[in-house]
This record gives sequence, C-alpha cells and structure tokens, in this order.
Amino acid sequence: MFDTEKVYDDNAKKWLRLVPSSLSDFTARPFVFEACGDVTGKAVLDIGCGEGYCARELKRRGAGDYLGIDLSSQMIDAAKIQEQQDQYGIDYQAGHVTEFVPTRHYDLCIAVFLFNYLRVEEMQQVFAMVYDALAPGGEFIFSVPHPLFPFMQKQKAAPFYFDAIDKNYFTSVNEQLEGEIWKQNGEPLHVQCVHKTFTDYFDSLSSAGFNTMPVVKELTVTPALVEQDEPFFGPLLHQPLHVLFKLSK
Ligand SMILES: C[S@@+](CC[C@H](N)C(=O)[O-])C[C@H]1O[C@@H](n2cnc3c(N)ncnc32)[C@H](O)[C@@H]1O
Repeated sequence: MFDTEKVYDDNAKKWLRLVPSSLSDFTARPFVFEACGDVTGKAVLDIGCGEGYCARELKRRGAGDYLGIDLSSQMIDAAKIQEQQDQYGIDYQAGHVTEFVPTRHYDLCIAVFLFNYLRVEEMQQVFAMVYDALAPGGEFIFSVPHPLFPFMQKQKAAPFYFDAIDKNYFTSVNEQLEGEIWKQNGEPLHVQCVHKTFTDYFDSLSSAGFNTMPVVKELTVTPALVEQDEPFFGPLLHQPLHVLFKLSK
C-alpha cells in the first residue's frame, strides 16, 4: 500500500496544472465550478487543495478570502510558488485535514477528490468540521470517484482506473485501491481510492448535521468530449466516473 503524503510529495511537479490537463479537469472540475455559482466575495475553505488548481480558478471567478489546506508539503510549496507569480491572495497551509481547526466561518467549502483518501470515520469527522466551519446558509461542494467506477471499469488502462481485483462493493469499504488518471498529454498520475458506498456518504453527511436533501450529480464522459479527442476520452464514454455532492447548512 502506498503512503498518500509520499505519493503527492513525489509527484507535485506533475500535478501542477495551469490549464485543464487531467481527465477530471474535463469530466469533474468544470461541474464543481458551475455548482459553486457566483463566488464573488465569498470566503472559501478548500480542503485537499493540492497545488491550487481549483483555488486559482475560483479566485479568477471573484472569490474573497481563500484558505487551501493539503497534507502534502510539496503540493503546498508548488501552490505557494505559483501564488508568488499570480498574487491572487490565496493562503495555503500544509496539514492533515482531520487535524484542521477552523478559526472563522466560511461561505463555501470545497473538497475536490479529497475524501477518496480518507476512511469513513475520518470523512465523517471532516464533514462535522465543515458543518461547524460553514456560516449559516454556507455551501459544501465535493467530488469523489463514483463508488461503482472501480467495479465497472476493470481494465487497468488509460485514461482512468482503480484496481479493484478481488474487491467487493459492500465488503471492501475502507480498503485502499490504487489507480491512475491520465493527463491529455499521455502522462499518468498515481491516485488512490479508499472505497466507500453511497450509503457511507449519505449516513456520514447526516450524522455531521447536513440534513437537507443534497444535490447529487453523477459525472461521466459525454459524446461532446469524445468528439473533441476520441483516443483520450473514448474508452470511458458513459462510464460512471465521479459524483458531485452539494449541500447547504
Ligand atoms: C487528487 S488530489 C486533488 C487536489 C485538488 N483538490 C485538485 O482538485 O486539483 C488530492 C489531494 O488531497 C490531498 N490529501 C489527501 N489526504 C489528505 C489529508 N488527510 N489531509 C489533507 N489533504 C489530503 C493530497 O495531498 C492531494 O493533494
């Protein structure tokens, strides 16, 4: 089993993206940004911010105070170096999200492919932290791998897979699956998925205090993407790739 902090420390340079490059920059992140709506002046907490890809985009869209936190000090260093050039006014902090204690309220919290690195108990703890950190009416938007994806896409091949050989949708909860997601230039990025079922997401949200109906979007490769670049997107047309959740406090 690979250590998450080391995986990201070792690959921070490959992750730094200034334009959409990895598969999920086309299939997931645009929908996260759309779900965020008008972010003008909003205080944003970005947990598992990586090298700041989403932070920079939300700042370009007018976000206000912005704090990004990430486990990997190398990803945070890459984010800070880019911030020195951009001067968007983004604060970045290295640290484990389960140890993060918010000192203010936020209008929006995003977590873009963070929870696939946490066990169910850790995710539930972070959901509770987010619930406390949000101002009344604040929104929480996160994306995760679709829980069924590792079990439906069994080939270990580009542009995205998780190795779920000998795993089971119900009994493999909290087991870590190793995978890769490709960039459009043909470069693979190592990713991991601590498996959870849909029930785990809904139960954990509810016990953290999120008790109104969430917006849930199942994301896939669309025919329009295949038209843009058939060799890259074609193998995953109509596969259930990611899920986006949007909640309000
Ligand atoms: C797939 S990357 C996504 C980064 C960024 N959100 C984006 O969309 O580009 C997942 C990130 O989660 C971070 N991460 C994993 N476990 C974490 C934890 N326990 N606390 C904070 N960050 C964590 C990793 O270091 C990595 O940067």
